[in-house]
Amino acid sequence: MSSAGYEGTCNPKDIEAAADILTKAKHAIAFTGAGISTESGIPDFRGPQGLWRQYSPEIATIDYFLTHPKDFWLFYRMRMSALFIAKPNRAHMALAELERMGIIKAVITQNVDGLHQAAGSKNVIELHGTMKRAVCLACGRTYPMDVVIRKIDSGQVPPLCDECGGVLKPDTVLFGEPVKDFDRARELALMSDAVLVIGSSLSVYPAAYIPIFVKEMGGKVIIINMEPTELDYIADVIIRCKAGDAMTTLLNEIKSKMGNQ
Ligand code: APR
Repeated sequence: MSSAGYEGTCNPKDIEAAADILTKAKHAIAFTGAGISTESGIPDFRGPQGLWRQYSPEIATIDYFLTHPKDFWLFYRMRMSALFIAKPNRAHMALAELERMGIIKAVITQNVDGLHQAAGSKNVIELHGTMKRAVCLACGRTYPMDVVIRKIDSGQVPPLCDECGGVLKPDTVLFGEPVKDFDRARELALMSDAVLVIGSSLSVYPAAYIPIFVKEMGGKVIIINMEPTELDYIADVIIRCKAGDAMTTLLNEIKSKMGNQ
């Protein structure tokens, strides 16, 4: 991919092709990754400034959490600063509008930042859980993350359960843990005739099966991503530009197509 994708404008032909697919689709869904949230100030994992270029992904495994809970939480506390001030960006807002218009029926996300819900998306499946709360591994009690941050900032690292003293874990899915709601996500994908992939390298399974399920059922795959992804070969349309620009232009193109119908 030429570097133009980083500063470049979105190719109008690709936007038009994507709008054509989405306005004709009977049941289109969105599948999102960390790339949709970088314009909100949250780093992704494998992009040029991705987290896994500075840290080993090993820090996000359940084994590492169980053996090094203190270091794990210090890493997460650093991540949480960006997460807690982040606001939905134009891409999240456009996707929520497409749901209100009936074009997108659901959002299946790998993200844990809650920005889709904050933007107004209603039907959201969080395959990798959420950073908004933590859970006690011993008794299952849950805590809002702002309460947990106060525990950490007052020196309780790892943060502990008030009830039973058990160690708290963010309610996110770590490598080595089963993803959440995968059956529901797969069902949705198998009944969809189009999937709009936004900001994912499509390199982590089982999440990356979602666009594959849509393709296998004869559906169309649209990928919005600044860099090549591992599933570009199954894409019907690839939009190689920033998600905020792509989604804003795509929303306007869909509105004008619907206005002319
Ligand atoms: N617009 C378009 N694409 C973008 C933007 C942007 N503003 N910012 C980043 N990207 C692209 C990057 O080029 C990259 O290819 O988004 C992609 C993000 O890929 P990853 O960082 O691999 O994120 P993701 O696919 O969500 O990772 C999946 O891996 O570490 C685990 O649990 C973590 O859920 C995450 C999973």
